[in-house]
Amino acid sequence: MKKSTMLVAVAMLLSCSIGAKAQKFDHLADTPAMGWNSWNKYQCNISEDLIKGIVDAMVSTGLKDAGYQYVNLDDGWHGQRDADGFIQCDAKKFPEGIKGLSDYAHSKGLKLGIYSCCGKLTCAGYSASLGHEYQDALQYARWGIDYLKEDWCYCENVNPKGAYALMRDALHDAGRPIYFSLCEWGSNKPWEWAKDTGHSWRTTGDIQCNWKSVMTILDKNKVLRKYAGPGHWNDPDMLEVGNGMSVNEDRAHFTMWCMMSAPLILGNEIRNMKPETAAILLNKDVIALDQDKLGVQGMMFSSVENVEYWVKPLADGDWAFCILNRNEQPQKCGIDWRMFDFKDEVSGCATNLQTKVYTLRNLWTKKMEGTTKRVKTVVVPAHDVLVYRMTEKK
Ligand code: GLA
Repeated sequence: MKKSTMLVAVAMLLSCSIGAKAQKFDHLADTPAMGWNSWNKYQCNISEDLIKGIVDAMVSTGLKDAGYQYVNLDDGWHGQRDADGFIQCDAKKFPEGIKGLSDYAHSKGLKLGIYSCCGKLTCAGYSASLGHEYQDALQYARWGIDYLKEDWCYCENVNPKGAYALMRDALHDAGRPIYFSLCEWGSNKPWEWAKDTGHSWRTTGDIQCNWKSVMTILDKNKVLRKYAGPGHWNDPDMLEVGNGMSVNEDRAHFTMWCMMSAPLILGNEIRNMKPETAAILLNKDVIALDQDKLGVQGMMFSSVENVEYWVKPLADGDWAFCILNRNEQPQKCGIDWRMFDFKDEVSGCATNLQTKVYTLRNLWTKKMEGTTKRVKTVVVPAHDVLVYRMTEKK
C-alpha cells in the first residue's frame, strides 16, 4: 500500500472509531420507567420462585396492563465469578440461571432487570463491576437483561462520571438495549452530568417506609425539576406503597411521585396486595400524570402552613393540580384559581387562569368537581392529597 493511501486508511479508521462514540440507548425511557424491584421488601432474600411468582402477579393483578413492565433483581442474586472472570448467579437461589428467569419474564411480556455496583463489591458485599465492566455488560446482554441499576458502594477513589460512563459504554458495546439506572444517591450531583450517561439517576439516599422519609426525599427531589425530561429522569427512589404506611400516606406518596415524573418502581409484595394498595398502584389516571408525554416534572407552586400546592403541565394542554397536606390534621383550603395564573419557566407552558376556565376531575374519586370559575373550598385529610386533572372548558 502506498504511504499516502495508508495514511488515509488510518485516518478513516480513526474517524470511524471516534464517530462511533458509545452512547446510552435511545427511547428506553421516553417516559419514566415502571416496574418492581426486590429490595424494599426482600433485601437479599430473593430466589427464582419468588421472582417467577412476582412475574405471574404482575400479569394477574393487572399491573402489567397498567404499564409496569420491569421486574428487577436488586442486591443478592450474585454467585462467584468463573475462572475467566464472568459473574455467575447464586445457583442455589436461581437454579435455572438468570437466562432462565429472563426467558420466563419475556414469555409473559415483561422485562428483567439486574443490579450491580461501580465498586469492587455491592452494598451487601457481593462481587461487583469495578474492573469487570465489559465482562458484566456482556454477561447481562447474553442473559437477556433489560435494565441495570448500578449502585455506589465500595467506590473509594473512583470518579463517578467516569465510572458510570464506562458502564454505559460497556452496555453499548454489548449491543443489547438496557435501561441504565444510576444509583449514587445524588452524592455527586448526577443531574448535572448524567443526562447522556443514564436514563435516570437517584437524587437521594435510601427511602424508608415512613412519612418523614418520603417527605425528606420529596423536598430534595422537587428542586431538581429542570434537570428531568424524556430519556433522563430524577429518581427519588423506589416506592414504599403497601409496605406499612397508612392508606392516606401511600396515596400521597404515589401521587407525589407521579407529580414529579419519577420512575415508578414498586417495592411491595404484589402477590397478595390489599385491595386499597392495588387501587393506588393501578390508578391509571394518576399513572397518566407520571407517564405524560410532555415529560415535565411537576412543581411546587406555593406552600402555606405545611400545605403545598403543586402543578404539572401535560401534553394535551391539561394541567395536573395537586394539594399535599403534610399536617397531622385535615386541612380546609380555599382555592382561588386566579392565584395560579402563571407561566412555567421550565416548560414554557402557561395556565392562563385569568382568561381560561378549566373543568376539574378528581383523580382519586373520579368525580367531576365543577370548574375553575369560582373559588373552591376543599378539605384535604391529614398526610394526604387531592389531585385534579384540569381540562380547558370549550
Ligand atoms: C443501596 C441502594 C439501595 C439498594 C441497596 C442494596 O443502599 O441505594 O436501593 O440497592 O444498596 O444493597
